[in-house]
Parts: sequence; structure tokens; C-alpha cells
Amino acid sequence: MTDTIVLPSQGALTESDIDPTLDLHAEIDRLRKERNAVILAHYYQDGEIQDLADFVGDSLDLSRKAAATDADMIVFCGVRFMGEVAKILSPSKLVVIPDAAAGCSLEEACQPEAFKAFRDAHPDHLAVTYINCSAEVKALSDVIVTSSNAETIIRQLPADRPILFAPDRHLGAYMQKKTGRDMTLWPGSCIIHEQFSEKELVKLKVRHPQALVAAHPECPDSILTHADQVGSTRAILDFVLASEASEFIIATEQHIIHQMSKAAPHKTFIPAPGADGGCSCSNCPFMALNTLEKIYLCLKNDAPAITVPEELRLAALKPLERMLEMSKSVPMSGAAVNAA
Ligand code: 13P
Repeated sequence: MTDTIVLPSQGALTESDIDPTLDLHAEIDRLRKERNAVILAHYYQDGEIQDLADFVGDSLDLSRKAAATDADMIVFCGVRFMGEVAKILSPSKLVVIPDAAAGCSLEEACQPEAFKAFRDAHPDHLAVTYINCSAEVKALSDVIVTSSNAETIIRQLPADRPILFAPDRHLGAYMQKKTGRDMTLWPGSCIIHEQFSEKELVKLKVRHPQALVAAHPECPDSILTHADQVGSTRAILDFVLASEASEFIIATEQHIIHQMSKAAPHKTFIPAPGADGGCSCSNCPFMALNTLEKIYLCLKNDAPAITVPEELRLAALKPLERMLEMSKSVPMSGAAVNAA
């Protein structure tokens, strides 16, 4: 796979160089102004990072924000493919990510060579690809989707064309059910959403009979079938804030609960359980790699920085631009926080 990360140079500042008495919040603030940087964060980031970001959003809103910003530098607090999308859409900006190792199990599950073979084996199909993938896989796709615009986009595709959907088989199956389209699914899944347990969820619902269940479409159908609301992170957030109910079970990465509790402190949010009955399964280990120290360091070091070779960037840009064009009817979230 093409290496799209420039790591800090030798001699660059490291975590052990950081003075433990440094006020990291104040320093990050000072550097962001000095560098004309915008800090974008996904809802799955630690609450402390969400609170210092200029904008917090789901994958679609973050892509739109990255495409439209007039900042010189984007600090993308999420996972690598999100930073890559920002660079593809805003090539003149310096795009840095706090930790180069922040990957994604869906991206890993869909390697470009295998995806190309999948496409070649289905020449009459349109390739609709979830944004959680590499730039190479995007470049081989017809249109990119996120969980908040997938249905809107699929409904605009010519009805006589069968669809290849990759890499998330659960989102694909959910879309197949909703739109009735002929879809062939890539067998990938997210390690977080895959771990929720139907049996434990049912037990939890018995203990909380008033609670509504809000689930991300990356969850298996066995979980979605119990959901009162299925949607992207921001759709779930909008749902719990608008609902008159006061108790919710949240079947997605649990850091989204930070925004829910802030906006509706009188409501109760319970993370959906894994097979052990606990909630440890709903922490994304990749998202968790980002810390305040690493945000400070990437602002100081201009690295890890995303770089996408121009030929690849232009090829990946096409289906991403198609996505933005085809999802104009999907509004920016009313619940987007700290909006810069
Ligand atoms: P959304 O924020 O678009 O819902 O997607 C989050 C995600 O990547 C789930 O793994």
C-alpha cells in the first residue's frame, strides 16, 4: 500500500521532552493560533480532545469541514483514513494526525489488490465504498459514502445497476434492506461494533425497560433489530437530544456519550454491552491512541503529516467529490459542537 505518512524527523520533539509542568491546553491554544490551524475531532475521541477541538462531527461533517476550511493547517483527531480524506480534499493544507498508528479495522480488511480483483470480477457493478478505507481503495471506487449519506446516495444510483458495497458488510446489509438494491457485500466489519452481544443487550433492556436503543449501522443485524434508531454518530446524537425519553442504550463507540451527557445532563446513557456484559468492548483502540501530548507534538513538529501522491489523490478525489455532490440534501448537523 502507498505510504501516505511523513513521520517526525530525527531530532523532533518527543513525549519525553515535554515539560510535565507545561499547560498543554494553553500551549495547544497558542500554537493553533500561531499556525492558523484548525483542530477537527471525531465523536469517538476522548472527551478532553472533543472539548478542545474547533469542530466535532461525524465522518461526513468532518469531510465537509476539511474541504471548506481556510486554515493553513488541519490537525485531524480521529484515525488515519480521516486525515487522508482531509488531505485529498484540501491538498494545499498541511494535514497532521496525532498518531500515525491510528488505523481502522475496516481499512485493514480491504486491501487495494484484493479490492481491485473484486471489482474486476464484477465489471457491470457500481462500486459504492464506505469512507473507512484507504486512498487506493477510494481511487478504485465509483462513489464514497458515510453512514449518514449512504441511503441518500444509493437511492440516486441508476436502478438497473447492481452494486458492490465495501468494506463494511453490516452497513451494506442494512442498506440492502432499506433500499432493496441488488448488492454484493465485501466481508469486512468494525472490531468495535462487531463485539456487541445481542444476549447481553436483551438482558440490559429487561433491566431498563424504558430505555431506547440507538445503534450505528456498523452493528450486526442481531443488534440493529433491537434498535429504536439506527444512524451515524451524529444521527444518534441528534436522536437522543430530540427524544422525550430519558434513558438510552448506545450501541456505538462509547465516547459519543461525552457529547450526549454535555448536551442533556439530565438523561441517562448506557453503553451497549459486549459478551462479558461490560462495556469495555466499545472503546476503539485506534481512536484512543490520540492524546493531548500528541496533539501538542504534531503542532510543534508538523508531523505525522499526511501526503498523498498527486495521481492517487486525483483518482480518490473523484468519488469523494461525487459523494459531497450527491449528499448536498443531507444538512450539516445541528448538534455539531464547538463549531469553528
Ligand atoms: P460516522 O461518524 O460517520 O457515523 O462513522 C463513524 C465510524 O467511522 C464508525 O466506525
